[in-house]
Amino acid sequence: EQAKLGVFDHFMIKEINEQKFTIKRAIEHDPHLINNITEMINNAFGVFLIGCGTSYYSCVSASYLFSKVAKKHVNVILASEFRNYENFLTPKTLVIAVSQSGETADVLDAIKFAKKHYCKIVSIVNVMGSTLTRISDLVILMNSGPEICVLSTKSHTSQLAILTLLAYSCADRLNDGKLLIQKVCDNIDNIIHDNVEKLKHLANRLKDSRSVFLIGRDLAYPSALEGALKIKEVSYIHAEGFAGGELKHGTIALIDEAVPVVIFCTDMTRDLIISNAMEVKARGAYTIGIGSRNNEAFNYFIQVPDFGDANPITMIIPVQILAYYLALQRGSDPDRPRNLAKSVTVK
Ligand code: G6P
Repeated sequence: EQAKLGVFDHFMIKEINEQKFTIKRAIEHDPHLINNITEMINNAFGVFLIGCGTSYYSCVSASYLFSKVAKKHVNVILASEFRNYENFLTPKTLVIAVSQSGETADVLDAIKFAKKHYCKIVSIVNVMGSTLTRISDLVILMNSGPEICVLSTKSHTSQLAILTLLAYSCADRLNDGKLLIQKVCDNIDNIIHDNVEKLKHLANRLKDSRSVFLIGRDLAYPSALEGALKIKEVSYIHAEGFAGGELKHGTIALIDEAVPVVIFCTDMTRDLIISNAMEVKARGAYTIGIGSRNNEAFNYFIQVPDFGDANPITMIIPVQILAYYLALQRGSDPDRPRNLAKSVTVK
């Protein structure tokens, strides 16, 4: 059943719609497993979070959460760059690998390298029995069901849910983390339902753009990175995500009337990101706000309630839907984008 389209035209939109169930399943784990991993994180001398593509962006989000919620520094490294950190790998190091497939060559290479240095390995994986699960000391399964579309959607939000839970658990607030994520799940239907027509309309407005920029601050910065990846992968429009504060350090030179800018506006970052939105609007950009409250700085607005530490889970959903409709309106196949593979097993 999980591998069939059902009422949907494509797996991408089916999997986007499944998220209210998959996120809930992602956090249903034996409390002993969560406790063991929490202890490993708290006792480690050096924690590395590694992944590729979307899974890497889940790691970037998590680094903010570990810092804010658990007051814990974790290193975030692209799996393909991990070998450069050789001098910091010891038997006290914990490496947490995040991968939907558990077969990505760069991730497996990094983990084998870490094991040569006797590091401990925890993995967050969707595919049971995959190579990564077999070479890890402990595994948290994402339980998302098969993800058929090449693009990661439901696997990303499940990874975020698990990593959020771990950050809360490290702060001895596991239950608060669970309640927060459950609240998110209860709202996903509304987020999709209330915005789908607006996003379809927006895709029509943006479909001929040369470039799309996405900006966010704080926890919304990794959302901007992941949002840009979604748009690029499936619509083939150039998209770039960056931190609101970086605008003035170069990218603002590219802003003109032709450039749409998506602004992730969380309640925590409102003032500064609105001032960034004003800056680009003043240079003619078409501004699209995603957040809990509209503002005159936005030409177009997508409303998503604010969930604090869980914002990365909810704020990406409208961009997943936008990317889907951009693909359809530009005549590309959302499930099988050109040149991309679901699982990249070569280096
Ligand atoms: C490929 C996929 C991406 C995915 C990345 C990492 O490039 O097209 O969607 O994010 O691999 O995959 P993983 O299975 O390790 O999460």
